Amino acid sequence: MAAQNKPSGYGNVVEPCTVVLFGASGDLAKRKVIPAMFDLAQHKALGARYAIIGFSRTAMTDESFRSTIGEAAKTISEVGPIDPQQWSEFAANLYYSPGDYGKPESYVALAKRLKEISEAKQLGGNLLFYISTPPEVYRDIVEQIGKAGLNKPASPDSWVRIIIEKPFGRDLASAEDLNSKVLSVFDEKQVYRIDHYLGKDTVQNLLVLRFGNGIFEPLWNRNYVDHVQITAGETLGVERRGGFYETTGALRDMIQSHVLQLTALTAVEPPASFDAVSVLDEKLKLLQSIRPFNPELMAQSVVRAQYAAGKIGDKDVPGYRQEQGVDPNSHTETFVAAKVEIDNWRWAGVPFYLRTGKRLAKRSTEIVIQFRCAPHMVFRNKGIEPNRLVLNIQPDEGISVSFSAKRPGTEMNIGNVTMKFSYEEGFGKATRPAYATLLNDCVRGDATLFDSGDNVEAAWSLVDPILDVWNATKSATVPQYPSGSWGPAESDALLERDGRHWHNPR
Ligand code: BG6
Repeated sequence: MAAQNKPSGYGNVVEPCTVVLFGASGDLAKRKVIPAMFDLAQHKALGARYAIIGFSRTAMTDESFRSTIGEAAKTISEVGPIDPQQWSEFAANLYYSPGDYGKPESYVALAKRLKEISEAKQLGGNLLFYISTPPEVYRDIVEQIGKAGLNKPASPDSWVRIIIEKPFGRDLASAEDLNSKVLSVFDEKQVYRIDHYLGKDTVQNLLVLRFGNGIFEPLWNRNYVDHVQITAGETLGVERRGGFYETTGALRDMIQSHVLQLTALTAVEPPASFDAVSVLDEKLKLLQSIRPFNPELMAQSVVRAQYAAGKIGDKDVPGYRQEQGVDPNSHTETFVAAKVEIDNWRWAGVPFYLRTGKRLAKRSTEIVIQFRCAPHMVFRNKGIEPNRLVLNIQPDEGISVSFSAKRPGTEMNIGNVTMKFSYEEGFGKATRPAYATLLNDCVRGDATLFDSGDNVEAAWSLVDPILDVWNATKSATVPQYPSGSWGPAESDALLERDGRHWHNPR
């Protein structure tokens, strides 16, 4: 199916700006954030003039920061091949200010560099802080920015904003504490809590599909939908992040953020308009309508598991407990499946089955809307399957609808066929990394695709009771699943109990 519009690219940015990147020597900065800034700079979508000041504990000069980041961009970045000439023009705008996140003198030094660089390059006062450090130091950074007086715009026509990475807290209490610290230093409208899934075009397209078309929304409710499945599968293991992952797990890492975001956008009521206040308000109402878990409900509706050794493609891979930095007796989950009920008029009685895991059979994120069968079956025993609308979020971005069709021939035999829309065929290959989209939105002051403090807390309220039960049952056995499979038998049983089965991405 060919679409008629060309990709719109990034929003135009005409003002200059300075970015201070905390955690600049970390993996996320090298793999995603700096490459996203590079991509924006190529499209004049970061600032008319700009500087990026890296801040982290590692001792480096501007020069060594430029070359370290340059090496990483060429080898591990996810934006594709980088042109050396374009990179060296970009790298001339990178600076580095080493420091200790909790020490006031580091911020005095940072303020001094900010002033020098801003004056030399005539950058004016627009300032974006980006926190991409380990979460333990978020609080210190925010506090020190405030103490150094860097939180307030230098003039009425300039802005100061802050992007804070996920995980925003590690439970409800710590998220509330972080929110109150952040809001004691910044106004809510300066704060951009990032979840990179919201920067993916196909995730945003969920809202366009639902609210930009007349044909889907009338069916999008309990009268026509049997159930919904959301799968966020990865083939990667914990890679070099064993230590971090041990204290995190799939529930905090993926469900609390990305998977609940997908659930919210799939189920949300139509917002009055596509702006931050309307969208965030509707998402909050939806998250608050999800039935809270308690120990009894959890026993029937939440499954956790860990990957065991197995094969990804034709490569043998070790089990989670054998990974570097992981306790050989670890109870940390690398897989979660959950049945979620939404207690509102639209969705009462329609289960949402969510699952995510590392080392699964395929890297694939998809949302499946399975419709109810025809109310009166004229074609009995002819192989009719329920209609499904499948939204492929990644990697083969697209939408497909399956329905029954008569097979050619004199007999009345019925087959299941699929109608497909492919993003690539329709609009060409998507080129905008999710991080770049969100950074571009932030420098333009558009918070629609970021999270509010209330939304983050609502998501933690759902996850907290599950964490409590798991903490209280540390000695329980954690089911194992072979790497390269779709998870443990307990996950299949979750749907089989309801007479359903998982739709595994192919
Ligand atoms: C991150 C998680 O937020 O999302 C990672 O911390 C996960 O564990 C990643 O691998 C998945 O993102 P994507 O865009 O590759 O699906």
